[in-house]
Amino acid sequence: MNVLVVDDEKIQVESICRGLRSRGYRVAQAYTAEEALERIKDDGSKIEMVITDYSMPGMNGLELLKKIRETHSRLPVIMMTAYSDKKLAIAALHNRCDSFLEKPFTLDELMQETERALAKVMKYAEEEQEPELIPKHVDRISNPLMSIIGSAELAMKQLDDPDVIKSYFQRIVESAKQISRMNKEILRANNPRKDHQEPVDIERIIDVCLKMFEDLLTLNDVSVKKIMGHHSIRVLGDKSTLEQMIKNLILNAVEAMEDSNEKQLRIETDYDISDNTVKIHIADSGHGIAEDSLPTLFLPNFTTKQHGTGLGLLVVKNIVDRLKGRINVKSMLAKGTTFTVSIPAAEHPLDDRRLH
Ligand SMILES: Nc1ncnc2c1ncn2[C@@H]1O[C@H](COP(=O)(O)OP(=O)(O)OP(=O)(O)O)[C@@H](O)[C@H]1O
Ligand SMILES: [Mg+2]
Repeated sequence: MNVLVVDDEKIQVESICRGLRSRGYRVAQAYTAEEALERIKDDGSKIEMVITDYSMPGMNGLELLKKIRETHSRLPVIMMTAYSDKKLAIAALHNRCDSFLEKPFTLDELMQETERALAKVMKYAEEEQEPELIPKHVDRISNPLMSIIGSAELAMKQLDDPDVIKSYFQRIVESAKQISRMNKEILRANNPRKDHQEPVDIERIIDVCLKMFEDLLTLNDVSVKKIMGHHSIRVLGDKSTLEQMIKNLILNAVEAMEDSNEKQLRIETDYDISDNTVKIHIADSGHGIAEDSLPTLFLPNFTTKQHGTGLGLLVVKNIVDRLKGRINVKSMLAKGTTFTVSIPAAEHPLDDRRLH
């Protein structure tokens, strides 16, 4: 594993590097964020993890993290800070910072965080596509492609025999159709967001999201209550979009509770037999939403936050629409907000197939 350590304090960099090397890691170092970006961009460097300081002259650790995320969405990043700053931690976690290290830390703490970040990434990787999908696809396509080229070449040699030409044409059409089918398959596999839906255990998705936000929730002193109604009923969708949907709603809830005295996040699911949907309620005890904002909530760029983009709920709405679901919001100023998403269940509870 190649780890890039970024810090303007040379002594610090050297001692971290020494520690990592002693545990079998290969290390590279950078003394500024700009230098780190150059190293990450350099294809030959094969950086697999970044451990960066937050406060550095010029670009700081958070800006570096944001830059990294523009091109490397999964590269694990651990941020080191000399003080615990909740706002910073929240902003960093928002940009998918994998872990935090509060200075000063011991080698064991460093290793613990490094391994934790690694485990997270491995878990994502397992759930992602196989990276060798494309080469495999190219390999599979080459047979029908050769058949097309061969048939066309042979046909051209026997232009005076219509029957022979016809049989070659048939082979060409067959092979071309085969490639077209394979292309559709690969597009679907590569883009599960589009139309690949399967029964998904929503409770597991909620757990994954809560685990991902564990640090964020702890740092914000948010207590979490999870009430799962019907464990056995799955929804029809795909894991990554459902995860995205829940994550955006949790993030908004946490952000809305920033200044609340009592911070409670309640996630509840239940099954509605009347329309065969699973309902997911995400409720917070945050500042609530003004009534006149409700109609604009899901529009692009609507935000009341200083650094918001106003895209979170738009993404949620698009996902819900794609899954043929519905979303409702109930809110009371200074009391809290509940978003309820209803998604069609993958099976009916009275369906015999579920009993086997
Ligand atoms: N749980 C909530 N409590 C109170 N207000 C909320 C809640 N969820 C959303 N909002 C309001 O809706 C607005 C739009 O939310 P949305 O997630 O689309 O964008 P954002 O959170 O402002 O920015 P980002 O694109 O970073 O998510 C928020 O700015 C906020 O005013
Ligand atoms: Mg948001």
